[in-house]
Amino acid sequence: MRRPEGGWQGKRVVLGVTGSIAAYKAVELARRLTQEGAQVQVVMTRAATRFIAPLTFRELTYREPLVDLFDPPPGELMRHVHVAEEADLLLIAPATANILAKMAAGLADDLLTCTFLATQAPVVVAPAMNRIMYLHPATQENLAKLARWGVVAVGPEWGPLATGIEGPGRLASIDQILAAAAEAIDRGQGLVQWAESADLKGVRVLVSAGPTREAIDPVRFLTNRSSGKMGFAVARAARARGAEVTLVTGPVALADPPGVRVIRVESAAQMRAALLEHFLQCDVLVMAAAVADFRPRQQAPAKIKKGEHQEGLRLELERTEDILTELAGQRAPHQVLVGFAAETNADLAQARAKRAAKGVDLLVLNDVLEPGAGFESETNRVTLLHRSGQAEPLPLMSKEAVAHQILDRVVQLLATSGPTS
Ligand code: CTP
Repeated sequence: MRRPEGGWQGKRVVLGVTGSIAAYKAVELARRLTQEGAQVQVVMTRAATRFIAPLTFRELTYREPLVDLFDPPPGELMRHVHVAEEADLLLIAPATANILAKMAAGLADDLLTCTFLATQAPVVVAPAMNRIMYLHPATQENLAKLARWGVVAVGPEWGPLATGIEGPGRLASIDQILAAAAEAIDRGQGLVQWAESADLKGVRVLVSAGPTREAIDPVRFLTNRSSGKMGFAVARAARARGAEVTLVTGPVALADPPGVRVIRVESAAQMRAALLEHFLQCDVLVMAAAVADFRPRQQAPAKIKKGEHQEGLRLELERTEDILTELAGQRAPHQVLVGFAAETNADLAQARAKRAAKGVDLLVLNDVLEPGAGFESETNRVTLLHRSGQAEPLPLMSKEAVAHQILDRVVQLLATSGPTS
C-alpha cells in the first residue's frame, strides 16, 4: 500500500465525515489511519451523526469527534482555526454532493466547511452519492471547480449503489483513498499555496494513454499490456498544476480523472482521429499511449469459425499510422511535444534516433522489462532524452512523481517556446 514518505506515523489528519450512507466506511478509514500511526481528528457534519455515532470514531481514534462550530468546550476558542492549522491533511470521506457544493461556493456554515476554508493543508475528497446526483451538472461543475483549485478527488467508483442500481457514485476503496491521501501529503501543498504555484494555469495539455485494440473480427482483437496508468498520472498531474487537460485514452480500467475532459477510443485509427481533432488547440502534447503499430489488414465481418480453418489461421497485418510523427509534422512553433519510448532493451543511441525521428522535444524512455518499471506497475524508472542529446536518468519513483518530473521539463520548454493562446 502507498504510504507517505516516512509513513503515517505522527501525521495529523482531519477526517471529515459527511452524511452519506457510505459514512460507515469512514470508520474503517479512521481505524486504518490510526493503526498506521496517524493522529486522526474526525470532524462530522450534523447529517453524518445520523448515520454513525460519534462514539464509534472516539473509540477508534482516541479523540472526541468534533461536530459543532459553536459551543466549544471551556477554554477552547476558534475551534475551526485550530483544527485547520494543526492539520497535515484534510481528507473528506465520504463527501456528499452537498459538501462539495458548499466547498465550491466557499460557504462556511459548519465546522467542516470552516476547516476547509481555514486550512493550508492539502485537501482530498472521496465523493460518494447517488448516481444521478453525481452525474448532475451541478455536482460535475463543483468537482471541476474544486479540481481547478487543487482539491484532489479520489473516485467515485462504478458499481452497485445503495439503491441497488449500478453506476458511478460508490466511495473509492479504502486503499485508493489512502494512496491519494499519501500522495497529497507528500506534495504537501495547501490550496492557497497551490493557487500561487500552479505553473500550468491555463495551459492546454493533450494527453494520450493506454493501449489500442485492433479488431480481427467482432469478438477478437490485438492489443498490448499498457494499463494507461502513466498517461492518466500525467493528466491528473497536469490538472493539479492548473492545466486544461484533454485525455484521449484507449480501453483501460481507470476512472476519469476529475476535472479532465476524457475521450475514450478503441483503435489506433480512432485515437489518431481524436488527437488530430484536438491537437491544433493544445499547447502541450504528451503521447503516453501504446499505440498498436500493426492491425489486421482485413477485419472479418463475422466471427471467424475454427472449423473453416483446419490448418490454422494466417493473419496479415498492415502498419498503422505513426500518430506522433504525423502530429509533429503539423506542430506550431509554440507547441511542446513529449513522446514515450517503450523499449525492451533500452539503448540510448537508438532512443536518441527515435527522439529525432519523432520530432519531439522530450522523449521519455523506459525499459518495460525492468522490475518496477513498465506497463502494469505503479512505479516507473525513466530516462529523459532532451533535444540537446542530453540523457537524464531518473530514479525509480511513482508514476505520479514521474508525471510531475515530465511536467517540470514541460514548464521549462514552454518558457522558451512561449505558448500563444
Ligand atoms: N506512437 C504513435 N503512433 C504509433 C506508434 C507509436 O504515435 N503508431 C507514439 C507512442 O505513443 C510513443 C512514441 O510514438 O509516444 C514511441 O512509441 P514506441 O512504441 O516506443 O515506438 P514506435 O514508433 O512504435 O517504434 P518501435 O516500436 O519500432 O520501437
